[in-house]
Amino acid sequence: MKKGIIVLGSSNSKGNTQKICSYVSTLTDYPIIDLKQKNIAEFDYEFRNRNDDFHPLIQEIVDNYELIIFATPVYWYNMSGIMKTFFDRISDCLKIEKDTGRKLRGMHMAVISCGSDKNLKHGFYMPFTETAAYLGMNYLSDIHCWIENGSIPEVVQKELNDFSKSLIQ
Ligand SMILES: Cc1cc2nc3c(=O)[nH]c(=O)nc-3n(C[C@H](O)[C@H](O)[C@H](O)COP(=O)(O)O)c2cc1C
Repeated sequence: MKKGIIVLGSSNSKGNTQKICSYVSTLTDYPIIDLKQKNIAEFDYEFRNRNDDFHPLIQEIVDNYELIIFATPVYWYNMSGIMKTFFDRISDCLKIEKDTGRKLRGMHMAVISCGSDKNLKHGFYMPFTETAAYLGMNYLSDIHCWIENGSIPEVVQKELNDFSKSLIQ
């Protein structure tokens, strides 16, 4: 069984994407890290933000887990800004925290998206798959979700059950 962690990147800590994360966490027993509760500044070429929450967080992840599930709402056809900032900061691991960067190699990645539309535009997952390939991570799968009247529709629950089962194997 893979040891995994869910990285939630929503602007709403108690929003729809969190509901999905909570459901997956119950099925997998994976903890959720809420990026909204962290102080992670945007990428800086001079690394002046090197003492914010990013480095301890990524270090904890690479030292303790084999699988990262990135969970993002769809904001303007894209991943959330919070999630994008986290991805930008992975560049720190290629420049000043190279040991941490090397540990990402061989880890697994999966992605949860949550939108108001039931369908995602083509290419939504491309930044994730390409980042995984660039970092030498193994991209496992992705799943698109939505919420109806405040809860997870049955059809989405079923897909989440299969998604979660396939990940923990
Ligand atoms: C800034 C913003 C942009 C959005 N853009 C899209 C979009 O492009 N496609 C879509 O399906 N839903 C879009 N939505 C709807 C959200 O993806 C949807 O409500 C989602 O469930 C919100 O998750 P959250 O509660 O974790 O923020 C947008 C919502 C916001 C706030």
